[in-house]
Amino acid sequence: MEIKTIAGDIARIKADAIIVNLLEGSKKLDGGLARIDQALDGAISHLIRRGEIKGKLKEATLLHSLGKLPAERVVVIGLGKKKELTLDKVRQAVAEACRLLRRKNAGNIAITPVGAGLVGITPEMAAQTIAEGALLGLYTFRQHITKKPEHGEIKRLTIVGADKAEVALLEQGSRKGRILAEAANLARDMVNEPANYETPAQMANTAAEAAKSYGLEVEVLEREQMRKLGMGALLGVAQGSEQPPKFIILRYKGGKSSDIDLLLAGKAITFDSGGISIKPSEGMGEMKGDMAGGAAVIAAMSAVAQLKPNINVTALIPATENLPSGRAVKPGDVLTAMNGKTIEIISTDAEGRMILADALSYASTLKAKRIVDVATLTGACMVALGKICSGAFANNQELANAVVTAGNEAGERIWQMPMFEEYKEQNKSDVADIKNAGGRYGGAITAAQFLAEFAGDTPWVHLDIAGTNMTDKEQGYLVKGATGVPVRTLVNLVLALATPPKNKRRTRR
Ligand code: BES
Ligand code: MN
Ligand code: ZN
Repeated sequence: MEIKTIAGDIARIKADAIIVNLLEGSKKLDGGLARIDQALDGAISHLIRRGEIKGKLKEATLLHSLGKLPAERVVVIGLGKKKELTLDKVRQAVAEACRLLRRKNAGNIAITPVGAGLVGITPEMAAQTIAEGALLGLYTFRQHITKKPEHGEIKRLTIVGADKAEVALLEQGSRKGRILAEAANLARDMVNEPANYETPAQMANTAAEAAKSYGLEVEVLEREQMRKLGMGALLGVAQGSEQPPKFIILRYKGGKSSDIDLLLAGKAITFDSGGISIKPSEGMGEMKGDMAGGAAVIAAMSAVAQLKPNINVTALIPATENLPSGRAVKPGDVLTAMNGKTIEIISTDAEGRMILADALSYASTLKAKRIVDVATLTGACMVALGKICSGAFANNQELANAVVTAGNEAGERIWQMPMFEEYKEQNKSDVADIKNAGGRYGGAITAAQFLAEFAGDTPWVHLDIAGTNMTDKEQGYLVKGATGVPVRTLVNLVLALATPPKNKRRTRR
């Protein structure tokens, strides 16, 4: 889909449809909406008086202009109450309107900068949000469906600004929105792709492609190099699979120094059968998405490379399958991670923390200033928080706050969980330095405490996305399947940590 920005009057745009917005409880129609209403002989104000249009969030009303406007259709989207308006609501409303219009086979649509001028929303922010809402909401994964879709395709979305100055801002915003949404959709593609296609090697290919397209450095460590580095935990998980493991490294250099300002690590289990501690077969197929953390990190790096902030970011993606076989690791086995710590395997199904143990050990040799890891780590996190927010676990409050803020900005909610020392007790082993499962209670926290041992003293946040990386309903800008969480959060975090560009340096308050 092409996203254009132009200066003009939405009431005079020729398109298959125009999208305008209405706040709940607003007494008077303003600007473009008033002109459209007038052209339609008062049809909109009539529907408002009749109570058929209320302006409630996600309410979408489709009217045909029957030649009274250059545009064929008008969609009035509700934004809810003004004081409750957020950017995420705009994102959701735009997505719903776009899907409605796709069902009607509209190919060319136009929209006003929804939300701009309200509750501190700038034109830039509005355009970014519109681009995200449209591109995320219209996402489909039809890779393996041979039949043509029943709906058409929206080929062009035009954001209509008041004048040239506003259009320049809209243009900037929509470019950023496109980069963020396309990155999230890249992660969605990887997660939705079946495990027989999305192998560790395939993930390495995608990383290499992103690196080539946008200018990142890429390095992929093979089994032999992992062995030399002593990545015994990752190799242990990989030894039950016929697919060669890959340790993918992406480097973005936008800062002046040689320091790594931020290190991202992502769990990439391309299929998690549980290994010898095998999972029940029902729903096991969903474990093709157990590489969502790694996918998010690769996708976020592709967006960072395009946005070019002044910061250095390195990404580590340990990728392997977790399968049972005659060569697979067994409960009771002891493995040695790259940092020399020994791990007793209680459950081969607690494999994510094993591969991250080596990624975090590797990270500590790089002396990164901060670490954020992302993983579909525990069912326990989903039990605790449901599918509404990801869990955050941290050894540093400042970084935790930055991650939560970046998440809120993206509409990808994050809730911080406790990290009391006492939880560590559950990870004590009688035969090794630590064990890989700490029992039923507080499973998301004991998993995080396990990772903390490998993150060391570096400020670190762990995001458990087990509940948030997939959704089973179409809602707002989410469609069934992978959500792309937390790609936009990670990119926002990188931008927030970067030194602002010279002409944009914030003035001191
Ligand atoms: N990949 C799973 C966690 C998961 C569960 C992600 C459901 C998404 C949806 C992880 O590897 C796992 O199996 N964790 C175990 C840990 C346990 C054995 C300590 C779990 O949560 O049961
Ligand atoms: Mn598992
Ligand atoms: Zn797993």
